[in-house]
Amino acid sequence: MNVQTAFQTMDYGVAPEAPAHADAWLKRHEGTFGLFIGGQWCAAASHFDSINPATDKKLASIGDGTAADVDAAVKAARAAQPLWAKLGGHGRARFLYALARLVQKHARLFAVIETMDNGKPIRETRDIDIPLVVRHFYHHAGWAQLIDSEFADHEPLGVVGQVIPWNFPLLMLAWKIAPALAAGNTVVLKPAEDTSLTALLFAEICEEAGLPQGVVNIVTGAGETGKAVVEHPGIDKIAFTGSTEVGRLIRIATAGTGKKLTLELGGKSPFIVFEDADLDAAVEGAVDAIWFNQGQVCCAGSRLLVQESVAEKLYAKLRARMETLRVGDPLDKNTDIGAIVSPKQRAQIDGLVKKGVAEGATLFQPKGCPEGCFYPPTLLSGVEPASTVAQVEIFGPVLVAMTFRTPAEAVQLANNTRYGLAASIWSENINVALDLAPKVKAGVVWVNCTNQFDASAGFGGYRESGFGREGGREGMYEYLKRKHAAKVAKTGPARETLHAEAATELAPIDRTAKLFIGGKQARPDSGYSRAILSPSGAQLGLVGDGNRKDIRNAVEAAAKAESWASTSGHARAQILYYCAENLSARADEFAKRLRKMTGASSAVASREVDASIRRLFTYAAWADKFDGAIHDPPLRGVVLAMNEPLGVIGIACPDEAPLLGFVSLMAPAVAMGNRVVMIPSERHPLAATDFYQVLETSDFPDGVVNIVTGTRDALALVLAEHGNVDAVWYFGGSAVQKIESASAGDLKRTWCAGAVPWADPHESEGRHFLRHATQVKNIWIPYGA
Ligand code: NAI
Repeated sequence: MNVQTAFQTMDYGVAPEAPAHADAWLKRHEGTFGLFIGGQWCAAASHFDSINPATDKKLASIGDGTAADVDAAVKAARAAQPLWAKLGGHGRARFLYALARLVQKHARLFAVIETMDNGKPIRETRDIDIPLVVRHFYHHAGWAQLIDSEFADHEPLGVVGQVIPWNFPLLMLAWKIAPALAAGNTVVLKPAEDTSLTALLFAEICEEAGLPQGVVNIVTGAGETGKAVVEHPGIDKIAFTGSTEVGRLIRIATAGTGKKLTLELGGKSPFIVFEDADLDAAVEGAVDAIWFNQGQVCCAGSRLLVQESVAEKLYAKLRARMETLRVGDPLDKNTDIGAIVSPKQRAQIDGLVKKGVAEGATLFQPKGCPEGCFYPPTLLSGVEPASTVAQVEIFGPVLVAMTFRTPAEAVQLANNTRYGLAASIWSENINVALDLAPKVKAGVVWVNCTNQFDASAGFGGYRESGFGREGGREGMYEYLKRKHAAKVAKTGPARETLHAEAATELAPIDRTAKLFIGGKQARPDSGYSRAILSPSGAQLGLVGDGNRKDIRNAVEAAAKAESWASTSGHARAQILYYCAENLSARADEFAKRLRKMTGASSAVASREVDASIRRLFTYAAWADKFDGAIHDPPLRGVVLAMNEPLGVIGIACPDEAPLLGFVSLMAPAVAMGNRVVMIPSERHPLAATDFYQVLETSDFPDGVVNIVTGTRDALALVLAEHGNVDAVWYFGGSAVQKIESASAGDLKRTWCAGAVPWADPHESEGRHFLRHATQVKNIWIPYGA
């Protein structure tokens, strides 16, 4: 281009990043990579090609890890783990710091290789991906250093298997590896088959840092290799990021194995623009929300919800901005939108866009998209909320637009999805924005900003976007377990000491208890009752034999009691104190009941009632104290990490300590604003049915606590399968595999635990129960800008 034409067109010239160093690195490996196992480079039996999607040229041959390779990697990780843990927090912090420094030192090489392998623009790999990787290792060097004081009572899980996607290859590696290593675990990581190269370069960095052999193992390969990692019996935890479909398969594969699991899955995140928003800022936000990384972002703001009064104005501004986005060579520093990761992904995007048009959407795409594996920025407006493109994750540069009239309608549309990863809210009115933030069901909410990430702020979804958090304090808990819990698991169920004494038989009192649904005693649908016997076989009473229909009714009642979630902690505390007071007033009656049901002595039964009263007090105390946090990311904003209730929790109670176990599970759940459907101990349900009267006199709103007696495991399974139940807690039974498998349908959270020493407050109350009863929503707001 000469000066004259440059003046006339005012167009950018080309500004290519030189690939020479990356080419030299590939050449040094003669274009072929093995697997990194036990600190050694091992030859792979076969290879597949890694292709540069922008040029369609082969970059390298990547080793295709087999199940035997995965096994070798797990063994190496297992052998390395005890010493890695023993190294202590400070020792590990030094290594994490070294990794941060080395990535920083090789930042340019990482950025160029990432761009060549994935197709994303160099501007993004250089300014976003790699700096965030560095930040993640620094931040977690800090957590390693502080582990003894900040995570006292916790220990590493052991060997962690990690499977990551292709959209942020090195960043996802960092999100997985940094917290795992900080906590004292060793890892076997499988990169995505389309983008293995930066993980292999990272393996070299591990060598350069002198990381002990076997602490990090990288086994490349496709889905089969990932499956071998997931199914390996020697792995203690699986961390996965990828499609919801594969996430569901992994939930089923790990069900009942005792492997801890975190899933970061898909999204269809709303980008909500109110009429009082700064529309130009919102347009730039949309660029970052959906055209960043070609829209291949799990939390992409892919659904534009705009207030009707400004919709046409916003669309016009968007179209004008889209005309200026430069699609092309990812290595050109002026490129805004690079290549789509693979022809397969491009075909999927194009197919969905065509479907959107066929279903009535209006299409806008600027001209000038190059041939090959590229896709233009796309706006589909006039989309119906139920249409395919409004529901399905497109995972491409496609913004799907709908309008709303009122804030309430905006909330309804925003939540009209099975996902719940992120949301972005645009309004110059702080009241509007912060009123909406708690109402949107999403793990991350950005106010007047979008796609902000930081190692200090947890990231992860609600609903079918998965569970668990990455980053922040909550992310560290995903790689740790409580010390005592480990001991219980190894030595088998701890003997319950509360009911050790023999029964003194009294004359039975006949009684038929109903179910407790929506604040009322309700007859079971089946019309049947079941007899409850004392240890000596005498009939103590009858309880309703609940079935699927009763559970459905109970869930419906719980769902209706939604306002409990927004009741203040102070108000919830008062009700829990009142509940304790009412239990205390009937303490003798309950003690007697426990004696007859379980054969406990008077002293032991009284102790159980007393412990139950104390536990109610404990959670009344916590109700207004389990605060979130405020994070201070290196940006002009703050992040409010809010502990939110999960919603409706189905809780299957254990047989041990039938009153204390029941109260210990109900109280933390409701203290945090959840509604519960309780299934009491199958053998000893009468303490729970007696509890109806305590609840009735304690001011709990109808539907907050529901109780269905019957065959515990069968009822728990109905809860696990129910679409309106958000979480299932299953304590002390043998149906864990079935419950966890059934939860895969809508990826609800499960908490399955073995025997708990209920009488020991250290083990059976407090923060770890509250963490299970909440999920963190991270709300990013401008501050000090
Ligand atoms: P994917 O979920 O199949 O792949 C993610 C990772 O899982 C890869 O490392 C893959 O090798 C591995 N994997 C595949 N099958 C597995 C199995 N049965 N067991 C264990 N690991 C397995 O995603 P894919 O096929 O690359 O992309 C398909 C769609 O998924 C995309 O179009 C997009 O909609 C969505 N996706 C979402 C991501 C997110 O971050 N939310 C990331 C990647 C894809």
